[in-house]
Amino acid sequence: MIQQKIDMEATGQAYRQARQAVRRRVIVCAGTGCVANGSLKVYEALRQETEARGLEVVVKLGDDCDCKGDVFVSKSGCQGFCQAGPLVTIEPEDWLYVHVKPEDVADIVEQTLIHDRPVKRLVYVDPASHEAFEQTHEIPFYKRQQRVVLAECGNIDPEDIREYIARGGYAAAKRAFKEMQPEQVCEEVLASGLRGRGGGGFPTGRKWALTLPEPGEKKFVICNGDEGDPGAFMDRSLMEGNPHRVLEGIMIAARAIGADEAYVYVRAEYPLAVQRIRKAVADAEEAGILGEDVFDSGRNMTCQVMEGAGAFVCGEETALMASIEGLRGMPRPKPPFPAQSGLWGKPTVINNVETLATVPLIIAEGSGHYRRLGTAGSPGTKTFAVTGHVANTGLIEVPFGTTLREIIFEIGGGVIDNLGQVMPDGFKAVQIGGPSGGCLIAEHLDMPLDFDSVKGIGAMVGSGGLVVMNRDTCMVKIAHFFMRFTQNESCGKCVPCREGTKQMLWLLEDIMEGRATAQTLELLEELASAVQLGSLCGLGKTAPNPVLSTLRYFRSEYEAHIVQKRCPAGQCKALATPEILADRCKGCGACLRKCPVNAITGEKKMPHRIDAGTCIKCGTCAQVCRFDAIVGVN
Ligand SMILES: Cc1cc2nc3c(=O)[nH]c(=O)nc-3n(C[C@H](O)[C@H](O)[C@H](O)COP(=O)(O)O)c2cc1C
Ligand code: SF4
Ligand code: SF4
Ligand code: FES
Repeated sequence: MIQQKIDMEATGQAYRQARQAVRRRVIVCAGTGCVANGSLKVYEALRQETEARGLEVVVKLGDDCDCKGDVFVSKSGCQGFCQAGPLVTIEPEDWLYVHVKPEDVADIVEQTLIHDRPVKRLVYVDPASHEAFEQTHEIPFYKRQQRVVLAECGNIDPEDIREYIARGGYAAAKRAFKEMQPEQVCEEVLASGLRGRGGGGFPTGRKWALTLPEPGEKKFVICNGDEGDPGAFMDRSLMEGNPHRVLEGIMIAARAIGADEAYVYVRAEYPLAVQRIRKAVADAEEAGILGEDVFDSGRNMTCQVMEGAGAFVCGEETALMASIEGLRGMPRPKPPFPAQSGLWGKPTVINNVETLATVPLIIAEGSGHYRRLGTAGSPGTKTFAVTGHVANTGLIEVPFGTTLREIIFEIGGGVIDNLGQVMPDGFKAVQIGGPSGGCLIAEHLDMPLDFDSVKGIGAMVGSGGLVVMNRDTCMVKIAHFFMRFTQNESCGKCVPCREGTKQMLWLLEDIMEGRATAQTLELLEELASAVQLGSLCGLGKTAPNPVLSTLRYFRSEYEAHIVQKRCPAGQCKALATPEILADRCKGCGACLRKCPVNAITGEKKMPHRIDAGTCIKCGTCAQVCRFDAIVGVN
């Protein structure tokens, strides 16, 4: 098939010219978080209102566009600050509007697009200092970040290949295909010190250099977009926000190892990511960027997108390959490693989405330039999904070596209580690396975050989930949450993982529900090492990490549950003491009338009391109490 190849230079130039002809750009975030909060309605309202007010509006720029309008309205992928969404960004002023509703659009058009003023009531106000910020780059959440891999994510239209090209996209892939030998590509990436972002931190250049000399005509590249960790959405955001960059990284990886076929494996629960990456592949094919004789190099390259059913274990590389082959997604022992025998027995490189999205930058700017950020052992930046008890949740990117304190208190805006109010001394712990990781505590707040320092204290950077916990969090409950996740997700192939995680879960339940004895912790620790040692894949090997790290730092909290039958954070319902709060109780008697065991006494209009010995914690009284006066029952 002869393809009509796009002229990248002319396309980029035409796009840039068209952009310059438009006075202002309005970018509505259309990442999953903002879409869920109604951003598409905001987008539609904007288009209608701008047209109704007689503004010249363009919604698609490009070489075939006769654009000379006032306003270019476009959608983007995740702009990072999901918690404040739906977000609307105004360029070139860099004004950011938060929590935008369709009803706000008339004001945006009137004040901003017609009278060139920011809409003050829509700008971000810091919850702690109450300071208002008009421009994105002034907001502490963005100010401390260095968005390198995410640079265009949230700015560009992810569904327009011409905008990606206009910003220099695909130039690195072209260079790799036309001007570099595979060995040089491997060497450049090796020299950059890039380490895999999928969890293990293995040097990417080394992985590629090991695959390149493997014999055989046929080799594969796989982009791992499975991302199953609870709380993580970095890879999803990249695929939604800048799919061409991921694709360009895949092409460079293929050039580095001599592959002509690639797969992007994305979980089906990420429909927007699937849709955008599929469109990116189709548009790249149509532009002749993928297909035959790529960049007139004499080499071919194809890419297919595959949806996974959403099993956490399918993110493990050997299980993922089995899944692509149409088998049940179960890991197999290594060796042989994918580099020697991967997809359908052929040499295969499998890399994480963020790893691959970093590669074009290294080829475009050189390994030396890439190393200017990060630490010697962990160069570059890392994206983190910051969630939990923190004022500003969202997707961030910082250089390796940034401290947790900077992330939680400066970017994240500090720790919040369960009602969302900032709690200056409320920090208790942060779970890093999802179910495979561990928790870090106050003494780690000033430790530079990088692969080796985090590993040195028995946790792992993992894929980049950061769940912040305040002082009202029960650490046994947290361990239980992650253990329940891994137990549910165990593929069942090995007994220690299948049965061991179940037993560990039950022991944690014993602790939370007051049935544990002095032996429970010993048994929990014994089982943890058996599961670590006896499991085949990383899921089982790391499943005990949340238990072991909470035990290391919060043993006394476990002991309080076991010995005193008390949950220090007051979160374990079974251990709570039933009580009626005298200052809230109006003495209405509603609870007393409903209690099935007559555990409540009290005079009318006087505070009532519960006899904890008689109470069976059925929770009926709390359900009927209109004054929220009853605590410690189910
Ligand atoms: C249970 C389990 C789940 C995993 N899930 C993912 C995932 O969702 N995405 C990912 O890139 N790597 C995941 N990994 C790591 C992959 O097996 C593999 O190491 C990684 O994709 C390699 O890419 P990298 O070198 O770029 O990090 C998982 C590993 C295990 C053990
Ligand atoms: S460790 Fe668990 S998830 Fe991994 S292969 Fe064994 S049973 Fe399956
Ligand atoms: S929880 Fe049930 S048993 Fe206990 S005081 Fe309330 S209604 Fe009575
Ligand atoms: S989805 Fe809009 S900011 Fe993340």
